[in-house]
Amino acid sequence: MNRADALDAVILGAGAAGMMAAATAGQGGCRVAVLDHAAQPGRKILISGGGRCNFTHLDSGPGMFLSANPHFAKSALARYTPADFLELVKRHRIAWHAKTPGQLFCDRSASEIVGMLVRECQQGNVAMHLSNRIIAVRRDADGIFVVETDRMVLQARAIVLATGGLSIPKLGATGLSHDVARRFGLKIVEPAPALVPLTFGPRDREWMTGLAGVSMEIGAKCHVSQGRRGRDIVFRDGMLFTHRGLSGPAILQASSYWSPGASLDIDCLPGRDAARCLRELKKARPRMGGAAMLASLLPQRLAHLLAAHHLPDGPVGEMPDSVLDALAGLLSSWRLMPTGSEGYAKAEVTRGGIDTAGLSSQTMEARDVPGLFAVGEAVDVTGWLGGHNFQWAWSSGHAAGRAL
Ligand code: FDA
Repeated sequence: MNRADALDAVILGAGAAGMMAAATAGQGGCRVAVLDHAAQPGRKILISGGGRCNFTHLDSGPGMFLSANPHFAKSALARYTPADFLELVKRHRIAWHAKTPGQLFCDRSASEIVGMLVRECQQGNVAMHLSNRIIAVRRDADGIFVVETDRMVLQARAIVLATGGLSIPKLGATGLSHDVARRFGLKIVEPAPALVPLTFGPRDREWMTGLAGVSMEIGAKCHVSQGRRGRDIVFRDGMLFTHRGLSGPAILQASSYWSPGASLDIDCLPGRDAARCLRELKKARPRMGGAAMLASLLPQRLAHLLAAHHLPDGPVGEMPDSVLDALAGLLSSWRLMPTGSEGYAKAEVTRGGIDTAGLSSQTMEARDVPGLFAVGEAVDVTGWLGGHNFQWAWSSGHAAGRAL
């Protein structure tokens, strides 16, 4: 192949971030090709948000992301904002709605977002090569990148690592971006499943199984260490008991901050003073039994289980306040010990990834490897549930696309 044939960029991965980077660069005048081993682009977009794609969150900001460098995401998020992406969605006449304030979904189907990105790529004359297994990625002595697949060899002055994280291998997730980054000398922050249901040992599973299917609103407390200081975050949202442990949005959020050996603290009555609630119920309805009292605050099956283990028999009016206060302590700060998670098979995202210390936050280009860019979930920037991960894909993809 002649050097003159070298493209401006080859983008590895036709997912959210890769297509955004390709469309932006192509429309900016670059000659761009996208490679993906899947037969269709954006497969994760298609299954996201229950098929309606929660494509952004209007309040998305650096505080809603986990990263070894909490400041890294600032620049890209500020330069391509949720409002910018919404503008694009509107331009393509995709109907949308907010499910909770700021959390935006398609009215009809996630396939409209994929269709929009494909059209944007077409407008930039991007060559999309699907069903291509990437075999080798190297850089020649003169700095040109060579990407070899089972069907073609492409040369480019830049490549963009956009193959996402390790979550959902059955959808084609691989560690390709991490591997290529490592080979070019970039560091990897240890990846782990995130936004994932948590599992428990046999003793906890025994009583949790009896509650499988029960859901309730909780506050899941997480501690975020930041240097010597730290901050506490409480995710107030739903929790679901499953046969294996705990799931639901509050648990998924907490899972991103959880690591093996750590406990999980749950507030079963978020926003309420548990001790006061119990004492007031005792006063108002003294003849009621413990389980009935708890059932006025919690799902019935959980109320019965807690009463059986933590309250004496008989009417609540005869229970000492100290017993109620002890139970209130448990309700407001229930410490559980997960033993693991349901892993990449069930994780919505992967935390960790390509260390941001080696990347420019303005352009996503590797500081020491000119022409090597990394975007989206492959990078050590992981969003909360609620549209933040796609916003990072759009913002980081756009930043790289502008810089190519
Ligand atoms: P993405 O995974 O989108 O794309 C990577 C691409 O690279 C894929 O097309 C893949 O086929 C390709 N690839 C991988 N390995 C390759 C290889 N070796 N060779 C060639 N190609 C390769 N986020 C959000 O904000 N709102 C939501 O509603 C949801 N919902 C949701 C539901 C479910 C079930 C999951 C699993 C995830 C979500 N997410 C989400 C997360 C969101 O999907 C995710 O963060 C983005 O898709 C990441 O975009 P990327 O482009 O980085 O990777």
